[in-house]
Amino acid sequence: MTVPLARRLAALDRAAGLLACPVCARRGVPDAPLARSERRLRCGAGHAFDVARQGYVNLAGSAQPRNADTARMLDARGRLLGSGVHEPLRRAVVEACGEPSTIVEAGAGPGWYLAGAAAAHPRAVPLAMDASVPALRRAAAIGLACVVADTWAGLPLRAGCVDALLCVFAPRNAAEFSRVLSGAGRVVVAAPTTAHLAGLRAELGLLDVADGKADRLVGQMGDAGLDRVGNRLVEFEAACTREQLRDLVDMGPNAFHEHAAPRGPRTVVVSVLVSVFARTTRHP
Ligand SMILES: C[S@@+](CC[C@H](N)C(=O)[O-])C[C@H]1O[C@@H](n2cnc3c(N)ncnc32)[C@H](O)[C@@H]1O
Repeated sequence: MTVPLARRLAALDRAAGLLACPVCARRGVPDAPLARSERRLRCGAGHAFDVARQGYVNLAGSAQPRNADTARMLDARGRLLGSGVHEPLRRAVVEACGEPSTIVEAGAGPGWYLAGAAAAHPRAVPLAMDASVPALRRAAAIGLACVVADTWAGLPLRAGCVDALLCVFAPRNAAEFSRVLSGAGRVVVAAPTTAHLAGLRAELGLLDVADGKADRLVGQMGDAGLDRVGNRLVEFEAACTREQLRDLVDMGPNAFHEHAAPRGPRTVVVSVLVSVFARTTRHP
């Protein structure tokens, strides 16, 4: 489904209230609102950002980082997600969202998880953020409001405006996530365990998943005032064709590294921890 520009702009308008001018923020004025006029977002100080003809807006203010997804990776991701292999994971992420009024996905890629959350919560305002322009061209095409932003450089969002902040296989900036989270909001992080695709990784010489990742995440979030309030292991076997295996490999960071090609179909283990973080009474 590719939606017309008018619907993409309407989605951007719904989400505009979440946005803050990144230039003002860099100059020490946080939370300066942005509003759309024709094909530009503008703040009160006159900083203006073009809305691309595909309907996304670039608030990054710097070049795309080297690990931003490429068009080829996104083609692989689109085919793999479209085949439904990750559907149990998407269900778990959507169920972890609570009852949000605003949903932001940081590192949203083509917006497949966010679109699932938006469909489950049609009154909520969804917003996709990613450092990759090709990713957000795809996310905008399915009608999601899209803003190009580098998670590590700070999110161009107003403080305290996000009820559900999703981060699925993407960079996590705990301090920024905490800053933009609403009082009762939650951060939903999906991250692979060491068992994720373990057989395939050994066979093809793929990148390892670092040990102790979950504990490090809890530490980083804790430092930012967020405690883990929920934790669900999503683990299942998936019988994959050779083409699906190729896409599983090519859609992630292994695309940037040398590895062997899958030789034939095989069953893989998908193993992902979905963690929910929120402010608790320990962190008023
Ligand atoms: C493994 S993909 C996950 C995409 C999506 N969440 C999904 O699971 O389909 C990681 C995403 O993070 C994005 N990314 C990488 N570095 C980033 C950064 N510094 N800021 C924002 N996004 C980034 C990539 O462009 C990519 O879309």
